[in-house]
Amino acid sequence: MTATTPPWRTLAHRLADELATEGVLRSPQWRAAIETVPRHVFVPRFHTQQRDGRWSETGAESPDWLDQVYRNQPLITALATTPRGSQVTVSSSTKPGLMIRMLEALDLEDSHRVLEIGTGTGYNAGLLTRRLGDDQVCSVDIGADLVATARTRLHELGLRPTLVAAHGGAGLPGHAPFDRIIATCSVPTIPWAWAEQVREGGLILADLKRSVHAGNLVLLTRHADRLEGRFLPRWAGFMAIRDTDCAPPDRHISFTPADGAHSTTSLSPHPWESLIPWLLAQSRMPSQLTFGYRGLTDTGAHQWAVFTASEGSWCAVAMNATNDRRDVRQHGATRIWDEYEKSRSQWQNLGEPGWDRFGVTVTDDGTHRLWLDEPDGTHTWVLPRAAGQRATWG
Ligand SMILES: C[S@@+](CC[C@H](N)C(=O)[O-])C[C@H]1O[C@@H](n2cnc3c(N)ncnc32)[C@H](O)[C@@H]1O
Repeated sequence: MTATTPPWRTLAHRLADELATEGVLRSPQWRAAIETVPRHVFVPRFHTQQRDGRWSETGAESPDWLDQVYRNQPLITALATTPRGSQVTVSSSTKPGLMIRMLEALDLEDSHRVLEIGTGTGYNAGLLTRRLGDDQVCSVDIGADLVATARTRLHELGLRPTLVAAHGGAGLPGHAPFDRIIATCSVPTIPWAWAEQVREGGLILADLKRSVHAGNLVLLTRHADRLEGRFLPRWAGFMAIRDTDCAPPDRHISFTPADGAHSTTSLSPHPWESLIPWLLAQSRMPSQLTFGYRGLTDTGAHQWAVFTASEGSWCAVAMNATNDRRDVRQHGATRIWDEYEKSRSQWQNLGEPGWDRFGVTVTDDGTHRLWLDEPDGTHTWVLPRAAGQRATWG
């Protein structure tokens, strides 16, 4: 670095050093990409949620904008308003450390052609294009404005990957076959269209998430008749794939604690403290779950943690414990909490295996079979089709 080096280059270099020290950034090609693709061009403004729930915006007028952009953190770049008036995030620039972890896991060769699902700001498409070249990178996003803006920014930097505004669940058949597909939004099941567009031996890296954040990044190899691979050891979470280019509809939970069958539990109500059991439990649940807090205690604290299934079942777990036990109320055809407790006991009896001991096999009829240690091992779980999933996903 010299006295004439632009400040962003010094910051990009610092970011690369930090990711290398963490052991995430390993190859010189990705270091070169991080150091030469300016993240601030893709993130001219970002949103931050305040303690009171409101959002504030930071841009070049703020003295720490540039420094923040080159920190190893995700940055929210687009919000949308739901019909009930809540603001939800619809796009972001992924945490660079996570992006590089995924790019390293893709094990790219110079000749590879890659499809990215979830263009967002265009920053990751920029990293890929710097590494592989214009003709070898395609990226799709359901947000037409996002794609148009990403294209302008990439062109500014002389990068011209193929960008398309489309539902990524269908892949990009007109540009297949690909050597790699990387999804930067989570999917409840892996669309078979992606398998059809990856050559045999090629890889798909995606965040396979059911509801309540239960799931993780999975690296799947394309075999003649299936996709198969393991979850990555470290958990990561992306925003969920959406079916329309607007805010998702609000889901109203109708829940009356008095209507529920009563029991107690010693377990924490927070799903993120127990994500693997929650994923296994969903093999026995007909539909996706939503999680939220309801009711307030006299002191203004949340009263219930509530899980609702789209077919109408719900369970509520009291936030306050008495003698280490919490009240549970369950209602409807699926006893959500009972299923979770069963899965948690099963996982404990198996020795509490981590993500990388679990894998997935996906076949062309849409079946997703989770397995422990080996695809033909004794412990398997079949995930039901995700509720609301478009038929075209395969
Ligand atoms: C975490 S952001 C992607 C970050 C991006 N790779 C970057 O470098 O800025 C997730 C993106 O997935 C997109 N997305 C959501 N549903 C989609 C769909 N059905 N098809 C394609 N993209 C989708 C969102 O619009 C959002 O931009």
